[in-house]
Amino acid sequence: MSAAPQVLDTLPMTLPRLAEKKRLGEPIVMVTAYDHPSAQVAEAAGVDIVLVGDSGAMTVLGYPSTVPVSIEEMLMLTAAVRRGLHTPLLVADLPFGSYEASDELAIATAQRFVKEAGADAVKLEGGGAMVQRARAIVAAGIPVMGHVGLTPQTSTALGGYRAQGRTAEAALKVARAALDLQAAGCFSIVWEAIPAAVAEELMPRMEIPVIGIGAGAATDGQVLVFHDLLGIREGVGARFVKRYGDVMDEMVRGVRAYAEDVRERRYPEPDHTYSIAPEELAELRARLHAV
Ligand code: KIV
Repeated sequence: MSAAPQVLDTLPMTLPRLAEKKRLGEPIVMVTAYDHPSAQVAEAAGVDIVLVGDSGAMTVLGYPSTVPVSIEEMLMLTAAVRRGLHTPLLVADLPFGSYEASDELAIATAQRFVKEAGADAVKLEGGGAMVQRARAIVAAGIPVMGHVGLTPQTSTALGGYRAQGRTAEAALKVARAALDLQAAGCFSIVWEAIPAAVAEELMPRMEIPVIGIGAGAATDGQVLVFHDLLGIREGVGARFVKRYGDVMDEMVRGVRAYAEDVRERRYPEPDHTYSIAPEELAELRARLHAV
């Protein structure tokens, strides 16, 4: 028996609707996207939030980490996603080095993502001094999503890409950062790579939607990187990644088949070519020698 067609909700996602989802206990779905086609996929799949993550530095730009990606590169990716997205909330990651130094810098960078690339909101990483940056951006009228736990932009200081909050002391640090960001006015927060039991302990204190990635099932929503969940990159990825496709294999298969067809002269076929009227062709032949 085939499944009934899904009726997708096409009302644009707003901050009040997200808060309502949390209140009703409806899971929030977030996914990353970095270009026009991935935005169209996210739109068609009916997700709630699309994040133009700085993970794009690695997934689409080929950098070894998220650190080198520039504001200009992130703006280009965000603008491309904006053109393919209508319904989900569009959040753009502020890249490393674009917001930490001062409130003025943080506000100016966040404004660029809203004005030049059409982002609805921005995301920044870390607690501590970054709480004040979040507060400043919120005060300037731009919604901010926080991000605590494993924060890839500062992973060197955290001892590498590894789970955070695995001791009581470390978990308290995550808790403080999350509560401070909530108090600073963030509309939502990402918890990355923390023990599920720690997330469960902290959730009752959270009034804003919490989106988890490697934080267990107690959070209000989940986020995965587009290329991880669809298998558009080599390797297995982090422990929390679940693969829902093997798109990389499928792309290689398609390009290989095309290459074989070209080499065996099976492509193009007559159906793939344009025609010219016989009299035009005759005239061309007559006049070509004079060119
Ligand atoms: O850059 C990114 O993709 C992220 C998500 C993992 C939350 O920050």
